[in-house]
Amino acid sequence: MTLLPDNVAKAAAILRAGGLVAFPTETVYGLGADAANELAVRKIFQVKERPFDHPLIVHIGNIAEMDDWAVDISPQAKKLAQAFWPGPLTIVLKKQASVLASITGNQETVALRIPLHPIAQALLRKFGGGIVAPSANKFTRISPTTASAVHEEFGKAIELILDGGVCEVGLESTIIDMSGDEPVLLRPGKVNREALEKVLGTKVQVASPSFETRAPGMHHLHYAPETKTTLIAPENIADFLKNLRQTDLPIGLVMYSNLDLMQGIHPDVYYVRMSDDPLQYAHDLYRVLRALDNQHYKRIVIESVPDNIEWEAIRDRLQKASGVIRDTK
Ligand code: TXA
Ligand code: MG
Repeated sequence: MTLLPDNVAKAAAILRAGGLVAFPTETVYGLGADAANELAVRKIFQVKERPFDHPLIVHIGNIAEMDDWAVDISPQAKKLAQAFWPGPLTIVLKKQASVLASITGNQETVALRIPLHPIAQALLRKFGGGIVAPSANKFTRISPTTASAVHEEFGKAIELILDGGVCEVGLESTIIDMSGDEPVLLRPGKVNREALEKVLGTKVQVASPSFETRAPGMHHLHYAPETKTTLIAPENIADFLKNLRQTDLPIGLVMYSNLDLMQGIHPDVYYVRMSDDPLQYAHDLYRVLRALDNQHYKRIVIESVPDNIEWEAIRDRLQKASGVIRDTK
């Protein structure tokens, strides 16, 4: 499906009328609504089956619009906006009094982001206001990185899906909280801690999983396939395969390292070889997980990835997909 400019006009008209539109961003597809329309915002929660206390990101078209949504914006926060917008970074700030409570989950802060994808930008320009957009998936499910994945999630429940192809980044934006005295990383993403620290000139704290109400992406089994999913360290994979019983099969096996284990592998082990480049891996991950989930294997088994900054966002999502990060409450 190609995108015609009038689809953007049509999408903007739907938003103005209080409807929902799915659109591509460079991270994942978003489910958009007019951020100034209470009824439209509520529709998002209904369609996603998302609890009302989970706050939404407001997408804006340019840096000047920050002041429409936030107050007390520190020079440090402005520096991040200048350095990374448009792009895959969300900045949490103290909110303007006018921001709807349904967007902020009744908190005193609001999350803002300027997306990079040209269709998202065209839509924001045409619409001329803030667009709230969570990832276009049902609550706790895998975020969509293609228009067909959005369709799979919602079918006819949304009026229009703008098709912008496969999302470049493939993982949700980095979220940094700049509303307090110290910057706090709430969700890792492509813009990593090192890059943030370099621009800020200070250390960035990492939120513990108990921050879940502020960034509910930290919930146990968020971003999870329905198929039981487990992580296995590279050094344990050979043994794992050797000890598989017929009743364990079929399984999907996701690996990135070049282990020479695959000769003579059981025909009911469906093996996906990922890239060993973290950017490419991130780009592909949700599409691969979605495809494996649709096969209804007994299990999805994923080789755990390196414990370093380049892989941080991927590690985070894999741990959530497999329930390793536990809900502390
Ligand atoms: O890449 C992305 O950020 C995508 C695209 C569509 O822009 N959007 C996205 O939205 O991932 P969503 O709703 O799936 O995740 C937004 C996250 C949630 O974990 C939410 O709790 C957090 O942002 N969030 C929103 N407002 C917040 C706030 N005021 N304080 C802390 N966290 C907030
Ligand atoms: Mg989401």
